[in-house]
Amino acid sequence: MEDFTSFRKQSLPLIEKEMEDFINQYTSNEQLKEAMLYSIHAGGKRFRPLLVLAVLHSFDRYPKTYDYQIAAALEMIHTYSLIHDDLPAMDDDDLRRGKPTNHKVFGEAHAILAGDGLLTAAFQLVSLSQIQSDQKVLLIQLLSKAAGTQGMVAGQAGDLQGEKRSLTLAELANVHEKKTGALIEFALLAGGILAEQPEEVVDLLGIFAKHLGLAFQIKDDLLDATSSEAELGKQVGRDEALNKSTYPSLLGLEGAKAALVEQLTLGTKTLESVKEISSEFQPAFLQEFLNQLHLS
Ligand code: IPE
Ligand code: IPE
Ligand code: MG
Ligand code: MG
Ligand code: MG
Repeated sequence: MEDFTSFRKQSLPLIEKEMEDFINQYTSNEQLKEAMLYSIHAGGKRFRPLLVLAVLHSFDRYPKTYDYQIAAALEMIHTYSLIHDDLPAMDDDDLRRGKPTNHKVFGEAHAILAGDGLLTAAFQLVSLSQIQSDQKVLLIQLLSKAAGTQGMVAGQAGDLQGEKRSLTLAELANVHEKKTGALIEFALLAGGILAEQPEEVVDLLGIFAKHLGLAFQIKDDLLDATSSEAELGKQVGRDEALNKSTYPSLLGLEGAKAALVEQLTLGTKTLESVKEISSEFQPAFLQEFLNQLHLS
């Protein structure tokens, strides 16, 4: 099997092409299209769509066009969440992916609409894909759950409420699980479903995703407190400035680092459990996503 670096290098342009082609073809207002493509083209790690494709590789399944479409739809929803997350009414940020935030360039109204557009287009893309009908309905159901009021949107509400009062650790874990974990969980579930894995395998991938998602947001909180704008391509120190409840604010830097390591260890253990019930499963690519979250 190819190595992770070449997998990433081969996959990125295909994910990006799906997003770009769809937006170009289905957006009828030029200014709106420009605002949507601005944030899509700004880059980002593409962590979530790569996860979808990595699951397929783990089961030795070569991705088809519709797999890239699901991956692209997920990244479009993630990008919308960032545009809205940066708005003055939310985290009020000026820099994203190394560039001025969407509302700084296009104004608040168009940034809101660019987000609305990306969210809606994502579902349009999934619905138009060539996936077999039963799977498609299931994926739409899971994606709406992950992105909406049981998932990311609910988590973002909890995050903002956590500026007004200090959350307990259990409440904060729940906010993180929803605002960040839910879309990451969708990536794993969708990958498992597209790879036509049995329910017990998909369930375990979901458990893996919970550890990966929580680790991802703890790392993001840590980097906000310890990294630099040049390295992250976004402003740092914002969580403290906004009085957010975060892992470092509740547990201190060392406590947050320990919580991160704990989630990464549990993630590796869950991959071992998948291997135990599925002989064809190759954990290396998914382990790579955990490795990326280890503090250097
Ligand atoms: C940032 O997500 C928002 C969080 C959920 C922490 P990413 O760190 O994946 O941002 P990009 O996509 O690489 O810009
Ligand atoms: C954002 O979390 C989670 C989203 C759903 C977008 P953050 O607010 O911590 O993300 P950054 O630090 O701005 O990227
Ligand atoms: Mg936020
Ligand atoms: Mg933010
Ligand atoms: Mg953050």
